[in-house]
Parts: sequence; structure tokens; C-alpha cells
Amino acid sequence: MPSESLSYDRPLKLIAHPVRHLRGTARVPGDKSLSHRAIMLSALAVGKSFISGLLEGEDVLATAAAMRALGATVTRVGAGAWEVHGVGVGGLATPVQALDMGNSGTSTRLLMGLLASHDLTATFVGDASLTRRPMARIIDPITLIGASVSAREGRFLPLTLVGTPEPLPIDYSPAVASAQVKSAVLLAGLNTPGTTIVREKVATRDHTERLLTAMGADLRVDRDGESGAGRIIRLAGHAELNPITLSVPGDISSAAFPVVAAAALPGSDILIEGVGVNPLRSGIVDALIAMGSDIRLENMQTLSGEPVADIRVRGGKLHAIDGVPGDPSRMIDEFPVLFVAAACAHGTSRFTGLAELRVKESDRLSAMAHALAQAGIRVEELEDGLVIHGCGGLVPGGGHVDPRLDHRIAMSGAILGLLAERPVHVDDATPIATSFPDFATVMGALGADIELTGPHSPEPSASRAVFLNGQNND
Ligand code: S3P
Repeated sequence: MPSESLSYDRPLKLIAHPVRHLRGTARVPGDKSLSHRAIMLSALAVGKSFISGLLEGEDVLATAAAMRALGATVTRVGAGAWEVHGVGVGGLATPVQALDMGNSGTSTRLLMGLLASHDLTATFVGDASLTRRPMARIIDPITLIGASVSAREGRFLPLTLVGTPEPLPIDYSPAVASAQVKSAVLLAGLNTPGTTIVREKVATRDHTERLLTAMGADLRVDRDGESGAGRIIRLAGHAELNPITLSVPGDISSAAFPVVAAAALPGSDILIEGVGVNPLRSGIVDALIAMGSDIRLENMQTLSGEPVADIRVRGGKLHAIDGVPGDPSRMIDEFPVLFVAAACAHGTSRFTGLAELRVKESDRLSAMAHALAQAGIRVEELEDGLVIHGCGGLVPGGGHVDPRLDHRIAMSGAILGLLAERPVHVDDATPIATSFPDFATVMGALGADIELTGPHSPEPSASRAVFLNGQNND
């Protein structure tokens, strides 16, 4: 019987060595956003759901553990294969212990919404990064629904949420473009009488809406605003969700790391297979094309209600861009690695309107400004963005990147090292396990030279998953 709990070898440091080009075919782990939602929503269905391709990174494992603590039966039945017996909408129970959300903002914010309309009390705790992240954006709407929250300084973890037995349906316009806020309100609406409405000025990733619809919820989406960029989402409450069989596509946010490295290295030719290319997530592809990159989406298909494709990248020279095409929310998690691409491009790139990057797992504007500057790139840090003077080829490189407990800064530091004249040391590689546990192995298969060191770096593959009980049931 496979173990239900995973842990990872957590190498302490990573050294990325310059590489001439990347070549070959690879797959990246399952989409993180979809994996969270698949576990949460199937825990609310009546009956047994089956999920394959689930991301088994620490963030999603935190969601799985929380849903178990709330009463659902969540079982790992094979590599990336999970069965979930749901308790039905409204059926979650008070957890005995605090819910440990680790590094995961998505687990925390979506669950706060979900629990707001349940008659239960739950305490949320997390790591040093999560404890600094703003929660007022969720506390505000769930207070309108009728929940009450007592949080450190009114807006940070640790916090205790008291859900309401008599939730009110709200009509809510989030102040920030955030799929997490939208999803939190919709999840609260599942166990609320009447119609819950969310009005988005700009559409953000719509995985929650797609999955709820696939599971039988009564949900309607209309375009809004003069340009049609906004959305009005209406969800009928007291929903009954059907169990689902779901196959999670590869995460475009993880694919972005090899994609950027290949795009910036002339002579590269890679194919990343089976990646989710939801149009509200694929901004990185458009941004790289705008920089002159040869990227194609091949073998387009629909998998479990989401568009999926193979991403083919041929390397070449990149040129600077002034902002990204479309709304930045379409690639909000890919900016750190796009900044690395801009460092290699010819000319000066200017990115603004990105204040949200300051409240991600780290302050990503500051972290990347430091990482690029220490690698010899001239960078100007703005309140809401970066101006990057690209060097038109390999970055001078060398030095150390401090990932600040942020997986995407750690992996962007590694990509910087591949595109540099001298190696880049990432001082703490452990956060990578939150979203892309086999990052070094996947990059290595494409020809990258990434060394992992530390007390737990096993041979021959330093980043493979191991099980707590020592069994490997792949
Ligand atoms: C996510 C939404 C985004 C993104 C995060 C995952 C989601 O956050 O940065 O990694 O799964 O809904 P925001 O909603 O704060 O933009």
C-alpha cells in the first residue's frame, strides 16, 4: 500500500552552471492551481473522485492534509494519482489541530473562503513567508458573508476563523485582480443560500469556474466592461457537486523555466509536453514571442475542460520589450523568470503595474532586482516594476541569489546561472519543493548542469521524491 504522505529530499544549495543550449523533450509536474482546486472541490462532492497528474509539491500536500483534517478521505493511490471521498457541500467538520499551510497562499486563501460558510472554527498557521502575506483581501469579503476572523495585526497569519452557520450571498468586486480572492468568494458561495456574485475588472485565471461547472454547479460567466475584459460570475448556492475524474495538465508556471532558458540560448530546441495553456495563464508565451522568440503551441487539445498543448521552443536572440502584451495577471507568477529573459535581451525593457509582485512568496521586484544586479545587470527598481538594461547575450553572471523562501526566485536564480558566463549559487534550494520537486532532474534531462548540495542530496538524482516510509511505489 503506497504511503499517503510524501516528503522530499531537500538539498540546501543549488549551483547552476552556464550551458550552451538546451535540447530534448520533457514534461513538467501538474498545474499547482488546478491541483489545489481538484483536491478541495472533490472533497466537497458526494462520492469518489479520481485525480491523475496531481502536483505532489508541498503546497498541494498542505491542501490535501487540510482537507483530511476537515473530514474528507484523501488517499494517494500511485504516483500523482489520488482518490478523494467527498463529504458533500457543507459537510466539513472542525479540525482538531491548526491547519498548517506551510508556504502556500493559495491553500490558505481558498480554504478561508470555503470555511467561511461552515459552522466551524479553524486556525491557520504557515511559514515565515506566508506569515508576512496580506490576508485582508480575504478577511474583508468573508466578514461580509458573516464569518469572523481574529488575525495577527488584524491581517496576517496566524489567524483563527469562525465560520457562520447563516452565510449571506454577497455581490463582490475585488480591489485587486486576484484569482485567489475570486475563488475564495465563490467557494464560500457554494454553501450559501441565494446567488453569490463576483465582478472582476480584469479576468483572472478561471480554473475554479471551469471545475465547478464540470462538477455540475450552476455557474454563469458574463463579460463586463467597455473592452469586455471584465467578468461577472454568478454562482447559485447550496450546490451539489458531482464527483469527477480529472487529469491535471503540466503547469505552465513550471514550464516557464525551461522555456525561458531555451528561448534565450541560440541553438536550443525543446518540447515541453502536455502543458495547460489556459488563455488566462499563457501570457509568458506571448511575452516571449513579443521579444522575438520562436515559440509554438503544438498538438492543442482539451483535457478535463482545460486547453492543453506541447510547447516547442527554438532558441535565438531576444530583444527588449516595453511592458507585456495583455494584462499582467495572465503571467503573474512568470515575471521573475521573464526578468531573466530581459537581462539577456538586446535593449532596455520596462515593466510597470506590478505592485502585486511585492506581496507574493517574497517581494519579487526586490529579490529579482538584487539577483540581476549581483549578476552584473543594470536594473532600476520602481515602486511597481523594474527597468532592466539587457546585455544582449549571456549575463556576466557569478555570485549568489538569496531566494527569500520563494520557489520561483530560487528557480529563476538557477535559470540565470544557465544563461550566464559564470555559475550562479542559489543559497537555499529547499523552497523549490513547494511547486517543482524534480526541477533539477527535468532541467538536467534537457542538458542543463544544475548541482544540488546539502545533507539530503541523494545520488544519482538529487531532487527525486522519497516517501516517509522509504517505499517508492512509482
Ligand atoms: C493563484 C493565483 C495567483 C498566483 C498564485 C496562484 C491561484 O495569485 O499568483 O500562484 O491558484 O488562484 P493571486 O490571486 O494573488 O494573483
